[in-house]
Amino acid sequence: MLAGNWKMNKTPSEAQLFANTLVNALAGFNSFDIYIAPVFVALDRVREVVSSSNIKLAAQNMYYEDSGAFTGEVAPKMLKELKVEAVILGHSERRKIFGESDELINKKVKKALAEGLTPIFCIGETLEERQKGLTFCVLEKQIREGLNGINAEDVKKVVIAYEPVWAIGTGVVATPQQAQEAHEFVRELLSKMYGIDIAEAVTILYGGSVTPENFFGLFIKPDIDGALVGGASLKESFVELAKIMAKIIG
Ligand code: 13P
Repeated sequence: MLAGNWKMNKTPSEAQLFANTLVNALAGFNSFDIYIAPVFVALDRVREVVSSSNIKLAAQNMYYEDSGAFTGEVAPKMLKELKVEAVILGHSERRKIFGESDELINKKVKKALAEGLTPIFCIGETLEERQKGLTFCVLEKQIREGLNGINAEDVKKVVIAYEPVWAIGTGVVATPQQAQEAHEFVRELLSKMYGIDIAEAVTILYGGSVTPENFFGLFIKPDIDGALVGGASLKESFVELAKIMAKIIG
């Protein structure tokens, strides 16, 4: 899977225009899933552009209730009506800037699954945590709490995005070895929790300063199943990433 997280970038008309560029440039890439995640207010216009293409729509967040007095929030059913198929949950920017807890993220992941949306569930350690040797500890807590109460059948539908916080938007990408080591840890943990077959079925993406220059080395690693891309998904470089994936997958 190749997923572009546009974050708080592009107005609806800019998003529509760029989606149109991507539809043309990415036609024919059918050996992996391609998602783009524009801001909420651009989803409808982007949907019109991508509706008969191989590009699928993701949202950047959602709330876990169906409707009601939750000012500023968006419900899963509202996203589904706009043909959104996946939703990014627990992104480190949501955790840090908006104070989202593992418990809240768990509720959102469960709700997304119940509504038939693919959760792209983000985890990752900060620089301080890595320097203190706490990386695996942090990842284990985020996984166990984020997936709490989710059964084996459902967990197969969850996409996990390992995004080390120190690599997000910094230009400091994890080395292929660092990323592979974290992905392997996540897969082994899933194997302990759900069994090997389930662990192997889960898609694990890497995110954090992915560019066409560094992606090949990451994507050839055995436990890296794709990327969740920020900055490089806002430009034509997203197409270059798709070309690299196609080359490796064959
Ligand atoms: P960058 O690719 O800009 O580092 O962002 C990664 C990210 O946060 C994707 O969700």
